Amino acid sequence: MRILSGLQPSGRLHLGNYFGMMQPALQLQHQGDAFYFIADYHSLTSLHDPAMLRQHSWDLALDFLACGLDPAKATFFRQSDVPEVCELAWLLSTVTPMGLLERCHSYKDKVARGVDASHGLFAYPVLMAADILIYDSDVVPVGKDQKQHVEVTRDIAKTVNHLYGEVLKIPEPRIQEATAVVPGVDGQKMSKSYGNILAIFEEEKALKKKVMAIQTDSTAIELPKDPDTSLIMTLYKLVADPAAVAAMEAAFRAGGTGYGDFKKRLFEAIWTQFEEPRRRRAALADDPAYVRQVLQDGAERARGVAQLTLDRVRRAMGLGPL
Ligand code: ADP
Ligand code: TRP
Repeated sequence: MRILSGLQPSGRLHLGNYFGMMQPALQLQHQGDAFYFIADYHSLTSLHDPAMLRQHSWDLALDFLACGLDPAKATFFRQSDVPEVCELAWLLSTVTPMGLLERCHSYKDKVARGVDASHGLFAYPVLMAADILIYDSDVVPVGKDQKQHVEVTRDIAKTVNHLYGEVLKIPEPRIQEATAVVPGVDGQKMSKSYGNILAIFEEEKALKKKVMAIQTDSTAIELPKDPDTSLIMTLYKLVADPAAVAAMEAAFRAGGTGYGDFKKRLFEAIWTQFEEPRRRRAALADDPAYVRQVLQDGAERARGVAQLTLDRVRRAMGLGPL
């Protein structure tokens, strides 16, 4: 089973990215042949500062490895180290109906948030389809907001197969429902573009400040509080063990504890959860040669697979040797 996913290097890794996509993807690396990549071609649709793109790409490489990506199990690479994917994106675009792309929420959402409406941004699902199809992927673990793109990928692949014979494998999205939408400190979906994130590798003081700023209602300290509607509880469930969650729920219902105390417990749980990854990340940052080697080995392996698929599609479509 080939498992594939990617993350854009467009900012700091946050709890939403981690629980929505990275953790489920990293668990899957033990169940099949995983390909995970840094989607830098995709980030070019919203980031036009070369130094920043390189910095984010590097940071994301450290994040993935620190969070447990095992290069002995998973092939880990930068998207742009396999330029074949751009050629496949062009081939796929020739059979992609405009209407299919016009229906994609992500384009409309990004334009509404102020991202320039470039052709690349509009055509982005086709590049994502190429990412998935070029590695003959079976399973694509992503957060809920990416599900539509995997469905577009399936549609495009079926059209190619209908027109040119069975050349592409049809992939399945894999969404972890329990963490499909992680809320940010304001209760909306956690997202870089909403300025409501809790970044996993945030500095201690800054993270604490953000946790303490989580929105709550104005129930007085002595009164009972509803754990089922509390943002603090929703986030706590992600990072605390079941016994600690049960204890906090009981303390909510009992009254006598203020939201400030609950937030401190939440901060401690987040800080502890990422202690080991933090330590590993610092060690990786001190060994850039190792990180570069992992990405280079991954790119070579990925490129080998990509070239075979591209060659197959080119021939099927009437390109290739005359
Ligand atoms: P952002 O919204 O911060 O820009 P991205 O769009 O780059 O995040 O998302 C990267 C991955 O993380 C995607 O698979 C996405 O579905 C997942 N993801 C992002 N935010 C959340 C969230 N709040 N809850 C669950 N998954 C999320
Ligand atoms: N579009 C995804 C995001 O914004 C990143 C991505 C690019 C991706 N190509 C992919 C995810 C292929 C899964 C499979 O998060």
